[in-house]
Amino acid sequence: MPPEIRESMTPPAPVAVVTGGSRGIGRAIVERLHDAGFAVLFTHSRSPAEAGEVVSALGARPAVAALQVDVADDTAPAHILDAAAELGPVRALVNNAAITGTLGPLTALGDADLRRLIGVDLEAPIRLTREAIRRHDSGPLSVVTISSIAARSGSPGEYVVYASIKAALETFTVGVAKEVAASGIRVNAVAPGFVDTTIHARAGEPGRAFRLGATTPMGRPGTADEVAAAVAWLISDDARYVTGETIRVTGGA
Ligand SMILES: NC(=O)c1ccc[n+]([C@@H]2O[C@H](COP(=O)([O-])OP(=O)(O)OC[C@H]3O[C@@H](n4cnc5c(N)ncnc54)[C@H](OP(=O)(O)O)[C@@H]3O)[C@@H](O)[C@H]2O)c1
Repeated sequence: MPPEIRESMTPPAPVAVVTGGSRGIGRAIVERLHDAGFAVLFTHSRSPAEAGEVVSALGARPAVAALQVDVADDTAPAHILDAAAELGPVRALVNNAAITGTLGPLTALGDADLRRLIGVDLEAPIRLTREAIRRHDSGPLSVVTISSIAARSGSPGEYVVYASIKAALETFTVGVAKEVAASGIRVNAVAPGFVDTTIHARAGEPGRAFRLGATTPMGRPGTADEVAAAVAWLISDDARYVTGETIRVTGGA
């Protein structure tokens, strides 16, 4: 049989969508899911060089594609899922992209920053999850949203709105999981502890993950891959009876 015919008979790889996959925890998730056999469509809003590096590091099989889009745009859910559908059937969605805003007390948070936090961190994962569910076919679909240790601590003096949004996403996970469980869709969350990524420098304290990681029972920050491992497990068939859960990857904190 000619190779092109053999290839056309191979079923397409399942597709995973990862928001914010150009660096940090999102990049580690992209790598884990690609290793697990997923074609991956990941997003970034302003990091074409980093995104290109991820694509070239992973190679073409299964496919990996980067899409530059602000997840808070009104058209983002359709845009992202249209691009993913070109790769094959979407079987996993990871809501990872988020911002914290600048570290500081609530009184220092301006209205524009408040609205931006709600748009990127709350509305975007809700709208993308809703669109993925609306487009769901009869196949399995696993949604994982990245929460944070902040959902429980509240992060006083640092970013209470970000923390509150993460807590809301955990409740969203519980409710939506119950709504769609009978349709073959699982919805879970992973709450990382302190992980050394650029998110802390952008918040105003580059060494924050090491400062706070040292105060945890394990005495160190986590790695992006340790978080990605939990995400990959939740998406895998090994977690087929798990839905509505938040797994805490926090070194015991
Ligand atoms: N690092 C930690 O200690 C920690 C702890 C708990 C929870 N988390 C959570 O883990 C997730 C990943 O965080 P991280 O530390 O890996 O962050 P990061 O290093 O800052 O990476 C964030 C990623 O999201 C993308 N992104 C940000 N805003 C976006 C937007 N509006 N539209 C599209 N993409 C956007 C970024 O690309 P662009 O800049 O190009 O947009 C980047 O790819 C977040 O949900 C965060 O809340 C992190």
